[in-house]
Amino acid sequence: MTIVTVDLDDPRPISPDLWGAFFEDINCSADGGLYAELVRNRSFDFTSQDRPGWGPLTGWTTRGLVQVRSDSPLSPASPTYVRIGDGSTSAEIVNEGFGGITVAAGESYVFSVYARATNDVDLDVTLACSEGRSTASVAIAAGPDWVRYEAVFNPTFGDGSARLGVAVQAGDTVDLDLVSLFPQRVFRGSPNGMREDLAQSIADLSPRFLRFPGGCVAHGLGLSNMYRWPGTIGPLQDRRPDSNIWGYHQSMGIGYFEYFRFCEQIAATPLPVVPAGVCCQNTPGGPQPVPDHDMDAYLQEVLDLVEFANGDETTRWGSLRGELGHPAPFGLRYLGLGNEDQIDDVFEDRFGRIFAAIRREYPEITVVGTAGPQPFGEDYDRGWDLGRRLGVPVLDEHCYKAPKWLFQNLHRYDDYDRTGPAVYLGEYGSRGNTFLNALAEAAFMTGMERNGDVVRLASYAPLLAKVGSTQWVPDLIYFDSSDVLPSLNYHVQQLFSETGGDESLPVSVLAAPVYERPAPRYRHVGLRADGFTVDCGWITIAGAATDSLVVDDGTGVQRIATPLLPHDFTIELDFTAVAGDPERGSLAVLFGDLDSAESWEWNLGTWMNRTATLFEVSDGFRDEACPGIPFSIEVGRRYAVRIEVRDGGRVTELHVDGRLVNGYEDPRSPEERFAASCVRDTSSGRTTVRLVNATGTATTVQLETRSGAPVSVLGGRQLSGDAGAGAPFEPAPFAPHEIRPTGSGVTVPGFSVTMVEIAAESAAP
Ligand code: AHR
Repeated sequence: MTIVTVDLDDPRPISPDLWGAFFEDINCSADGGLYAELVRNRSFDFTSQDRPGWGPLTGWTTRGLVQVRSDSPLSPASPTYVRIGDGSTSAEIVNEGFGGITVAAGESYVFSVYARATNDVDLDVTLACSEGRSTASVAIAAGPDWVRYEAVFNPTFGDGSARLGVAVQAGDTVDLDLVSLFPQRVFRGSPNGMREDLAQSIADLSPRFLRFPGGCVAHGLGLSNMYRWPGTIGPLQDRRPDSNIWGYHQSMGIGYFEYFRFCEQIAATPLPVVPAGVCCQNTPGGPQPVPDHDMDAYLQEVLDLVEFANGDETTRWGSLRGELGHPAPFGLRYLGLGNEDQIDDVFEDRFGRIFAAIRREYPEITVVGTAGPQPFGEDYDRGWDLGRRLGVPVLDEHCYKAPKWLFQNLHRYDDYDRTGPAVYLGEYGSRGNTFLNALAEAAFMTGMERNGDVVRLASYAPLLAKVGSTQWVPDLIYFDSSDVLPSLNYHVQQLFSETGGDESLPVSVLAAPVYERPAPRYRHVGLRADGFTVDCGWITIAGAATDSLVVDDGTGVQRIATPLLPHDFTIELDFTAVAGDPERGSLAVLFGDLDSAESWEWNLGTWMNRTATLFEVSDGFRDEACPGIPFSIEVGRRYAVRIEVRDGGRVTELHVDGRLVNGYEDPRSPEERFAASCVRDTSSGRTTVRLVNATGTATTVQLETRSGAPVSVLGGRQLSGDAGAGAPFEPAPFAPHEIRPTGSGVTVPGFSVTMVEIAAESAAP
């Protein structure tokens, strides 16, 4: 039996905003995802900047004469449109949506288009799939101006492979732009709205806040790609489309107005993130700052965002918000400045100037600064340093770490400085969608909740991913054009969020099931080359020399036969990259049990041949064990590598040409795989105990109070199953179920997350 004791009399006030959601247009989350528009490339504004080979007619097939034009466009923001027909033969453009248009019988779809023609023209519009076909005729009146036309489709068929055709008869010519097909059923019926089922799945998380628009999308690949909010509001044709850092196109159909409106609809406080005057550090050539002479204008743009969200109708931006249909303020409280940027002098300058301006003009806004891409390392240290120096109220940490790391770091926030900035764990996840991942995240969440006075906000990332169109896996919710597939990780987020509170109550745990990681086994050594052909000679493993070999790009891991290695050993080799791409090449030296889910890999030239890093695979999840140290492989140069594994495998070092390049000492901290927290919501009086058992051992938890007052369990929800179940792109294999324990005991299976609402009777005299 495990005893969990709650101290009901020592509440610690915590952030009521703790559990939120992170939305970024990654994995086709916006166009073709949350945004309900069914036509892809509706404004003919795709370019090769979005993706090589793409252009104005990407997503369309054509028949007859179709010209891409840019004279007298509908809007300068999106200068291309099409002219179809040449007055002699009929012509047509056909759009297949985002991999097929999904229509359902009984639903209505609004077709709209901007058109211009010199003669009266009848447009033949067709919505068709193998199951059926609907047509509409739209009469375009002759005139020099662009005019919007509409027709409604009520198909009697349903399918995910429909196509939309727009045609003219022989003798007619027409200019077309912003060709749209929008379901009438959208989330909360809002115009230009969200796909209902996907939006609902986010609403069902009960997020206290919603972060948007990223992620890396916020700061963009290059200055011209920074996400600039004013270009995303107002009439659709006047929005500034842009390429997406994840390799596709952003129509900006969901823009700042829609984000704010969605937040309001799901009762999530908005947390927009604007660039801190610097673009993404992964921009070729490195991060670039907004030039000095543009900084005043950029500063003003950031301040204008606050006015757009909160200003009354006498203000310029507040009145524009009213014109867009929302006179009431959106109640902006948080504003993110920067996203996991490289923290250097230039960043400090730009961030410092914008931060000072917001503080001066809008002291009521809580600015969220940034502390790098990892929960440790140079940017993390420098970001925290800057945050403390400037008095930034909240800093955004990011943490994509394997379950092992999360289990070892349940107490990460126990000792965080309570006098400095608070934490926003803005992006986190444990690198997988199995139940073990969800359990690790749940356990880590108990640590954040216990420290909810210093961890003010937290959001799993990324939120959405379209099956077949991902750039980042794992994600919280997968979807295709007709289904929504929430993961086990989603259920964990929801269990915490729906029972969140504003007080954390101290919890102690006695006799919890324990977990011990088996000692490492060193059975194999392997080499893998990526982007290079590598000639390896003089390979010596634990003193035994082996044959030299050539490792080719993309041929996978080449194993070198070795006996079972002792816990302290060295691997030595000389290597030369004889051919390949110095922009992306690397050589990995792997060791451990390569047939199991536990191994290590020194990677020379990881991160586009920029660093040397140790990766650890634990429980099957690959993760960086330590920050990378700058290191690049030059083609044609010979390197002498020595890898040392010492202290029973606890210490490993990488030496190149006699110089220590990088090293790692596994803290071998215990992995606490049983975790608990308790939260009270003072407005409803609800008190919830969270019990996370990531060991395979079942236990009965006896709930007690520190004062001795008897506890009764009112009910609860439990998620339990196989630790290995669950995978990306698949629906969660199981979901939380109700439990009705009686008295003060709760049955907690091995591998489970349990939420129980408790009431404590008054202590006996
Ligand atoms: O969540 C996916 C990406 O991870 C975000 O865009 C970026 O901030 C981080 O690197």
